[in-house]
Amino acid sequence: MSSHGTPIPMTSRPCGPLKGVAHVPGDKSISHRSLILGALSVGETQITGLLEGDDVLDTAKAMRSFGAEVTQHGPGEWSVKGVGVGGFAEPDHVIDCGNSGTGVRLIMGSMATSPITATFTGDASLNSRPMARITDPLALFGCSAVGRQKGRLPMTLVGAVDPVPVRYTTPVPSAQVKSAVLLAGLNAPGETVVIEKEATRDHTERMLAGFGADITVEETEEGRVITLKGQPELTPQDITVPRDPSSAAFPVCAAIVVPGSDVLVPNIGLNPTRAGLFFTLQDMGADLTFENMREEGGEPVADLRARFSPNLKGVAVPPERAASMIDEYPVLSVVASFAEGVTDMQGVKELRVKESDRIDAMAQGLRAAGVEVEEGEDWWKVNGLGHGNLPGGALVETRLDHRIAMAFAVMGMATQKPMQLDDGGPITTSFPIFEALMADLGAQLVRSNG
Ligand code: S3P
Repeated sequence: MSSHGTPIPMTSRPCGPLKGVAHVPGDKSISHRSLILGALSVGETQITGLLEGDDVLDTAKAMRSFGAEVTQHGPGEWSVKGVGVGGFAEPDHVIDCGNSGTGVRLIMGSMATSPITATFTGDASLNSRPMARITDPLALFGCSAVGRQKGRLPMTLVGAVDPVPVRYTTPVPSAQVKSAVLLAGLNAPGETVVIEKEATRDHTERMLAGFGADITVEETEEGRVITLKGQPELTPQDITVPRDPSSAAFPVCAAIVVPGSDVLVPNIGLNPTRAGLFFTLQDMGADLTFENMREEGGEPVADLRARFSPNLKGVAVPPERAASMIDEYPVLSVVASFAEGVTDMQGVKELRVKESDRIDAMAQGLRAAGVEVEEGEDWWKVNGLGHGNLPGGALVETRLDHRIAMAFAVMGMATQKPMQLDDGGPITTSFPIFEALMADLGAQLVRSNG
């Protein structure tokens, strides 16, 4: 079910060629950060192309609860009148972040060094996810947290009254952890330093610099060392949110597995910290090209052209590529099912603590659809059956996880028998126009009870 609704069963049927142009929505990571950094600025930030998925709408509501004026002017057009670094007001009610780990973790970071208290909750998925990875470093600033056992939400955060700056090495490759520490560092005096051994998506660093913070990034033997000078005055920005490569992944992969397809997905950011899936698909022999390569706002951008690729082969995905495609493993495993041979995915323990345990959720659904999968704590292997040989015909659990739902929807477009999703509702957390967009391309994805 969606974070606020009842289950929406869906059926995805094998379909004819997918053809056309797919304009995917705004980037989820950048949308959250636009609202939060807008709220921490002094003055009015204008945002174009904001993702209006449930996750981001929950962050917009949260920013209002902390005192920012957040207004929608038209589809994707928003403004945020900020309260400045250290200017958050204490919310008078519980902050509900719905399904969004990014939302809750970044917001916790941004309030942790203000002398206010806030209580956070979410849906069943979010309330089962680990928060100690955030509250441990936030405690170093002087913030304290009381939650349920094993550091789960609902949780109350008491912000530091006299915050001190922090030097912190992230123990897991997580942009959410890095970003929470940097956002907390904004209201601490002196320099906060975050060190990450593996590069994760760098939107927070880039956007903080854009909002006028004094932030530097150095590649050293220790890893990426990010240094932020505390207590800046952030200047409001005009932001055009680029389209989301993680959403582009679904029409791209659908075109690759459905016979006869030819789909153009324009204006996709190819920031190297996000684009790992596309290079992996090319390694597998997919007919995927980057057209009209250009730079926009300092980021590489291209129109992706994906065509049916009948001769896919399994590959070993380099573990060092994992962070740059961490959200794309579910749909990659679907493409791997249509490839000849084994696709080996190593170093992906983080998949176990996403909106669902994504290795388990995909492995169960793939097996039910006739695919052999092996798994360990931080790896899994999919034994592809080759194009045209996948039975399908399974009912899968989407486990409150949008990417599991969309991955199996893509799978059903090219299996022998339809795939059924117990609940397609979670799709609206990140890709509210998914059904309409895929239908326009020629997919047969229908609400089973509608
Ligand atoms: C995100 C970071 C990633 C990713 C999530 C968005 C972000 O999570 O899975 O969808 O915007 O910072 P982790 O930081 O847990 O890897």
